[in-house]
This record gives sequence, structure tokens and C-alpha cells, in this order.
Amino acid sequence: MTKIAPLQPKNPKPVIGVVGLGTMGLGIAQVFLMAGFRVIATDGYAPLLTTTPMRLAASLDARVQAGKLTQDACNTALRRLRLVDSLDELLRAELVIEAITEDLAAKSQLLAALENVLAPSTVFATNTSSLSVAALAEGLFRPDRVLGMHFFNPAPAMKLVELVGHAGTSGAALQLGRAVLEDAGKVVIVAPDRPGFIVNRCARPFYGEALAMLEEGISAADIDAAMLAHGYKIGPLSLIDLIGADINLAATEGLFAAMGKHPRYHVFDTMRDHVARGDLGRKTGRGFVYPAKLGPAPANAADIALRIEAVLINEAASLLAEGDVGQDSIDTAVMLGMNFPRGPFAALRAHGAVHILGALAALEARAPAHLKGRYVPSHALTEPALS
Ligand SMILES: NC(=O)c1ccc[n+]([C@@H]2O[C@H](COP(=O)([O-])OP(=O)(O)OC[C@H]3O[C@@H](n4cnc5c(N)ncnc54)[C@H](O)[C@@H]3O)[C@@H](O)[C@H]2O)c1
Repeated sequence: MTKIAPLQPKNPKPVIGVVGLGTMGLGIAQVFLMAGFRVIATDGYAPLLTTTPMRLAASLDARVQAGKLTQDACNTALRRLRLVDSLDELLRAELVIEAITEDLAAKSQLLAALENVLAPSTVFATNTSSLSVAALAEGLFRPDRVLGMHFFNPAPAMKLVELVGHAGTSGAALQLGRAVLEDAGKVVIVAPDRPGFIVNRCARPFYGEALAMLEEGISAADIDAAMLAHGYKIGPLSLIDLIGADINLAATEGLFAAMGKHPRYHVFDTMRDHVARGDLGRKTGRGFVYPAKLGPAPANAADIALRIEAVLINEAASLLAEGDVGQDSIDTAVMLGMNFPRGPFAALRAHGAVHILGALAALEARAPAHLKGRYVPSHALTEPALS
């Protein structure tokens, strides 16, 4: 008698739903398609449903050309995508990731609509960068199914995803979130549901301290060249030019408000002026450095780099002091999310706490009125674990 092999599930990976096929949603869909998941996706803007296969094919083709993906794998990935024009067609998805416009009301409305048409067991993930996951879960019948999955741009290239549970997120939802992300090759760091999560908060001083120095008269090219000389792949002001001063300003203003207008998150006039003038960076043809090229590192490069790293370290220490996240998670998240050569706690060990505390004290002593309090060290920096 011939033995019949037991039936294997055709595709044991959970089906992923994606709502919002803009920059991030398209990239997130690509991440899962390339990892062998089936993806059902939709967008409120109907023309995108027609153009998405072409956009995706172009993005995958770039990887084929770069030798990172075979043509076969590219074709298979494209076949795994199903585009739908209504939310109830996401029914087969076990996890739905929303990547729609960054607006609390719009996202809350979408989650409530999804809850109306999908199974109670479907997990909802939000790709919000600045909204509270708890606030997004509020008002749902099953807030325990909501979590944050903060991908970085471009999602297919960036390894890091911050996984964010609110106080009521179920262990099962977090487990599913972690499992699919790891299966898709991502490095998952659990981040607290607090403003900026880990990376967007800990990265603020990189830009802020560069702007503080710019306002003191140090040139943008010198600041960036100093950071390059200390192992950073791009300087803070060139990074603003790349991302867009408008995007950076909005993120800084959001964090400044969310953190009770603490001077550590000060919104610098120079930044507002650039945005008001339309000097947004590469996209408008002029930024802080762009289109100029950087020169050699200035003689005071070490002072510039120490100053920026001291303030980065202090921010990371203040996050650490709030609890729920450890030094290694912060270091890994900041390195992967910002492409930094080392995390803030590795930088602290390299400089030594005494040196960093001294640098912060000197900065605080000569801080102008609007920055007073900015450099006061987090108490974590003076505790034995760090000092
Ligand atoms: N762009 C980034 O660098 C970045 C990085 C990390 C996280 N995020 C977050 O990802 C999310 C999306 O950002 P993006 O840059 O991809 O935006 P985007 O504007 O490129 O895309 C948003 C898409 O959502 C669609 N949409 C809007 N409302 C909708 C609704 N109610 N139902 C269905 N579709 C809807 C729009 O048509 C658009 O295609 C935001 O929450 C943002 O904060 C963005």
C-alpha cells in the first residue's frame, strides 16, 4: 500500500494585511512579500491600487539589478500580493498593519472600521511614528489586539522595527508581531509606548546640538565634517537636508510638545527659518549644507563630536531612567535606526562618565537663557551602573 504523506499547509505563514500604500505601506508590503508571506493590501486612494503593482515591480527590479534578488523570486513575490478595494476583503489577514496618514482621528477611525469587519482575533499594528499606541487602541472593543510596529524608511532596507505594546496589549498579539517580523528578517526591539519610542527620541540631540552650534556661529560644513571624522556616515545637517527640514521640524515640534516643552527638545529658530524660506534640503535644491560639499574636518572636530555625543548620551540616559527599556536595546535601536557607528551607551563607555558629565556641566554653565536646563545630566548618568 502506498503511504500517503500527511497534508502540509500550503503556506503556513500568516497572511498580512496592509492599509495605506504610500511610501511606508508599499515598503512594508514588499518586506513581507519578499519573505514569502501573502499580502492583501488596500489604500483609500483608488488610483494607487492600479499603480501599486508597477511601483512594487520597479522597487523589486532594482534589487534584481543589484543582484540582491533573483528574477524568479521577484515574480513570485509579485504574485503573492492581492490588492482589494474594501476593508472587509482583508478578512483572511491574521495581522493588519496600517500605514495611513499620521493623524490620530483618521487612524482611530480606520481601526474602528477594521474592528467592525474583521475577526476578533485579527491583530492590528500601527506604523505610527509619533502617536501613542494606547491612544490609538482606546475606544476599540478589543484594545488588547493593538500594537505598534514602527518600520524605518525605506522599510525593505532598514533592518530595525520597534515593536510597541501599550499597557493592555496581549502577549499573544506581541508574540505574533515579533514572529512575523523576525521571519521577515527584521531586528525587533521592544520600545516603550512613549513619545518618539526609542530612535526618534534618542536621535533628537543629533540634530538639535548641531543646530545649537550653528546658531553659535560654527559652520554647517565643519559640524558635519567633524562627525564624519568620528565615524558617522552622514553629518546631522546633511541628514536634515536628505530627510527634509519640514519633516524634521514637524518631528521636533511634536516631541517638544509631547515632552512638556523641555529645553532638551528645543525647536531652533534656524530650523524654523529654513522651513519658512523653503530651504528644505535636497528636495528644494538648498539646505543647510546641500548643494555644497564638505571640506576637511576642522581643528576642533573632537570638541564638536564630543558635544554631540554627550547630549545623545544624556538623552539615552534619561530614557533609560524612565524604565522599561535597557541599554543594549537603546544602543541597537539607535545604531540600526540611525546608521550610527555606535550606540549612546557604547559612546559613554568609550568617553567615560566623568568626561561626559564634565562636558554637560560646561555646556549648561554657558547655555543661553532659552537653553537653560538642556544639559542638566540625567540622574542615571551619576548612578553606579553607568558612571
Ligand atoms: N515616511 C517615513 O519616513 C515614515 C517612517 C516611519 C513611519 N512613518 C509613518 O507611516 C505612516 C505612513 O507614512 P507615509 O510616509 O507612508 O505616508 P504617505 O502619505 O506616503 O502614505 C499614506 C497613504 O495612506 C493612504 N490613506 C490615507 N488615509 C487612508 C484611509 N483612511 N484608508 C486607507 N488609506 C488611506 C493615502 O492615500 C496614502 O497612500 C505614518 O503614520 C507615518 O508617520 C513614516
